[in-house]
Amino acid sequence: MRILVGGGSGFVGRELTRLLRVKGHEVTLISRQPGPGKITWGELESGGLPACDGAVNLAGENILNPLRWWNESYKKDLFSSRIDTTKALADAISASPSPPHSWVLVSAVACYQPSLTAEYTEDSEWTPFDLLSRLVKEWEAAALLPENVATTTKQVIVRPGIVLGRDGGAMKQMMLPFWLGLGGTLGSGRQPFPWIHVSDLAGIIAGALETPAVPPSPSPQVLNGVAPALNTNHEFTKELGRILNRPTILPVPGFALNAMLGSERAILLTQGQKVIPKNTLETGFQYKYPDLTSALREIVRR
Ligand SMILES: NC(=O)c1ccc[n+]([C@@H]2O[C@H](COP(=O)([O-])OP(=O)(O)OC[C@H]3O[C@@H](n4cnc5c(N)ncnc54)[C@H](OP(=O)(O)O)[C@@H]3O)[C@@H](O)[C@H]2O)c1
Repeated sequence: MRILVGGGSGFVGRELTRLLRVKGHEVTLISRQPGPGKITWGELESGGLPACDGAVNLAGENILNPLRWWNESYKKDLFSSRIDTTKALADAISASPSPPHSWVLVSAVACYQPSLTAEYTEDSEWTPFDLLSRLVKEWEAAALLPENVATTTKQVIVRPGIVLGRDGGAMKQMMLPFWLGLGGTLGSGRQPFPWIHVSDLAGIIAGALETPAVPPSPSPQVLNGVAPALNTNHEFTKELGRILNRPTILPVPGFALNAMLGSERAILLTQGQKVIPKNTLETGFQYKYPDLTSALREIVRR
């Protein structure tokens, strides 16, 4: 299969591209930068969709970029980098004389309201309640294909939790403090910590790209991209400390995270949701890392 990967040069995209190539697929990236094996977003808009069997969008300004201060310009970039690229791909698919058989958007679990008790599946109703859930709403709406295209192109939305892997995302920022024995729970530590190993997320996305819709549906299939284990931030912290053989006795208070990151974004760390991958399990997906111990062992071992 020929697969087009928007934002494929990033943390998740590198893992996905590696997996797709191992499976024998041909991958073309869409990027802001020209280069071999890539087209740019400008070329997509001017030249239309290149011939492909599947397309996925992973593009987006990093939400935990430690170098960017939380202000209006950053928030605008978070929205436009996701919504404009998603819309550009959805429009190119709709305008294509031979649209791909699958179109996958990777969004986020931030649509589900943080809670210590509520459990969310893909079927849970939700309405936006804060900045990040508004972002997910607009992002997923930008991906929707017109009904006539949706009868031939399967639409899938994958909603990942915090993606764990050695080479990027949250772990890249956490490993050093934990190695130095400075790791600790964030906020109360009781908040749910929805997570997935990057290799499993790549597997879920690849499966969505490879499997045709039978029968085709005008509305997208939603797959929660989280591990089936339900953990709290405290459990994650203690398990990482145990595997690294380091103490984790220095909690980071919520007010410090709010001051450092801005409260609208600190929510990602100080609060969380219990997310259940009901539909993902029903597809028959087999997790390589269904529990924290196996996931963190793999990450630390590499
Ligand atoms: N990592 C996580 O824990 C996590 C959790 C939930 C959801 N997600 C979502 O999953 C997707 C992939 O995550 P990731 O961790 O792989 O992301 P990433 O590495 O931070 O970024 C992915 C790619 O997005 C492109 N990009 C960055 N800033 C951009 C901008 N301002 N405008 C347009 N493109 C931009 C870059 O590609 P080029 O430089 O080639 O243009 C980059 O390689 C993202 O949409 C993210 O929100 C991630």
